[in-house]
Amino acid sequence: MTHHRLDAARQTLVLATPANGLPICTYWGARLPDNADLAAVATASELDLTGGMLDANPALTLCPQSSAAFPGQPGLVVRSVDGAPLRPVFSKAATKRSDALSLSYGDAALGLTLTFRFTADEATGVITASTTLGSTSPILCDWLAAPVLPGPQLADGMIDVAGRWCDEFQPVTTSWSAGIRTRDNRTGRTGHEHVPLLYLPARGCTNTGGEAHALHYGWSGGHRMLAEELPDGRRQVQFGHASGSDLLPGQRFVTAPLYLAFSDTGLTGCAVSFQRHLRDRIVNWPKPDTPRPVHYNCWEAIYFDHSLDALTAIADRAAALGAERFVLDDGWFKGRDDDTTSLGDWTIDTAKWPDGLTPLIDHVHSLGMTFGLWFEPEMVNADSDLARAHPDWILGPMDQPLGRGQFVLDLAKTDVRDNMFNQISTILDAHQIDYIKWDHNRVLPFNDAAQTRGTLDLLHRLRTTHPKLEIESCASGGGRIDFGILHHTQRVWLSDSNDALSRLRIQHDAALLLPACVTGSHVGPRVCHTTGRIHSISFRAWVAAQRHMGFEMDPRELTEDEAATLTKVTAWYKANRDWLRTADILRLDSADPTVIAEQQQAADGSRFVVFAGHAGTSAQIAPRPLRLTGLDPTATYTIDLANRNDISSLSRGTPALKSGPVTLTGRSLMSQGIALPYALPDSMWIIEGHRA
Ligand code: DGJ
Repeated sequence: MTHHRLDAARQTLVLATPANGLPICTYWGARLPDNADLAAVATASELDLTGGMLDANPALTLCPQSSAAFPGQPGLVVRSVDGAPLRPVFSKAATKRSDALSLSYGDAALGLTLTFRFTADEATGVITASTTLGSTSPILCDWLAAPVLPGPQLADGMIDVAGRWCDEFQPVTTSWSAGIRTRDNRTGRTGHEHVPLLYLPARGCTNTGGEAHALHYGWSGGHRMLAEELPDGRRQVQFGHASGSDLLPGQRFVTAPLYLAFSDTGLTGCAVSFQRHLRDRIVNWPKPDTPRPVHYNCWEAIYFDHSLDALTAIADRAAALGAERFVLDDGWFKGRDDDTTSLGDWTIDTAKWPDGLTPLIDHVHSLGMTFGLWFEPEMVNADSDLARAHPDWILGPMDQPLGRGQFVLDLAKTDVRDNMFNQISTILDAHQIDYIKWDHNRVLPFNDAAQTRGTLDLLHRLRTTHPKLEIESCASGGGRIDFGILHHTQRVWLSDSNDALSRLRIQHDAALLLPACVTGSHVGPRVCHTTGRIHSISFRAWVAAQRHMGFEMDPRELTEDEAATLTKVTAWYKANRDWLRTADILRLDSADPTVIAEQQQAADGSRFVVFAGHAGTSAQIAPRPLRLTGLDPTATYTIDLANRNDISSLSRGTPALKSGPVTLTGRSLMSQGIALPYALPDSMWIIEGHRA
């Protein structure tokens, strides 16, 4: 038996490779001392036997095998092309260790090889794992799991993530119990409903304290997750492509990367590892040193009703408020007056734009803003020149139910990808466009890994040809958010809900995966278009300033007071965005359940800002103190309220923060916390902190 360890910041993963059979994860948790005896670790985890069990415990390997009498779900299900089940018995082939650890196994009789690959990132704290299956002749692969890991024992529940249009990233807590919790997303895209993310908190874990393991499957085509408790009490966690993703025989099957994090500082520790890894390792930034520009997006201002006059007036107003990038949304291309036609025909609508887009783009540039344009390249309307010319390019049957009146294009086809590449490139070549909002407004007729690979290939080709281009991943809001798509894009449109109250909650939970710099957040219209609610401009502006800020209302609706507040908050965002770009989002534990609070902290701990949002009216009259986290207990910090103007006349007392800065030790801020001024519902306190 040989043993390998992978260390990434605070976590260690130990793998044992027996002489016969596949490797086993014998340890996944807090970092072990450098001199830990790995053989002893393996021995210490061996289970006893008693009545009602086989004479030896079938191993929970990185790919549990039905051929080895494993009593739970196997990590691999393969069939010959005629449909007969294959039951491989793998034996050791090769081990390679460089930056990556690669462990290969073979079944010579069946002509199969199975390779597990691991890398560990010391800086971000993330371990990345994947499984590859090779075959000398074509086979059918019904299920291939990324390396299968044991679930923690001292854990009562697990948190996976559901959601819906306008209410993304909803954590769902389920108890561990005998049997299986499965998520199998057959919609063909990551989806609002199935974020491929799992947190496994140990008993007593909160946002800021206790142990947690977390896993994210970086795939945009829909995932399958299963968390199973075996009769003997062992737990296993599997992630892979959704069932039925690869329907055709093949000779090589690869899982997406599975990202692993561990924390002994609560859920937030895992969240920070994922945030850093995404920001520093996954996203390819075309201009890494450029500040994240304040966006203006015209969708909720004008929808399909484009005109040069209105949009230049809007651009003037947006620039005056502080916008730096102007994004022309849906409605600019041939015949697109509503959402029933024209997808697929990416040429400029000459009725709305008789002189093309150049006059608007020039105007936007003259205001010092860059220009972005909306596309939905994977889709087609029946009423389009493209569908009329190429009905065979449509994915699925013609009589399928439509989504938003549209079909999906079959991007597994080279001709389709070439056509989309050429149409988009033609527009990009002819205009100064540095940004695309890439939308995807329906689920697929069936899930299909080839479609996802086609989309990623098209994105890759466009970004290689236009290396300065930034792309936003949008799918009716947050329907496609994962590390797979974010390898080719730089921003996500988190939700179509510009309702600040909804957004506050969605952003908070999305921070389990996403850093601020990729998370788009816009100040919407006064009366929210998706909820009908009205919020103060201050609340709307601060919620947007928590992430990558933008505006999406018709700025001509703003009163002078509203414009002044928005300009001020935007100026605050600009003054702070450089350090915030690399800050960690630490989700706080709030004593008052109506307070949704986070601390964005500079990597060196020298400064932070707390956003404490009041998502309703509290049960008690006076605000409960808010405890901070991640500070040096012995250091001294000065904290101050950045939005003292928002204190309402209903606050009659004298809490320290109301009148001026407060200086306290980190210990005091983390243990006792700080009393906040009385807050109206749907409002937010901004508390800035500096280490002395
Ligand atoms: C859905 C997106 O989420 C919106 O922001 C907008 O771009 C529309 N599509 C345009 O059709």
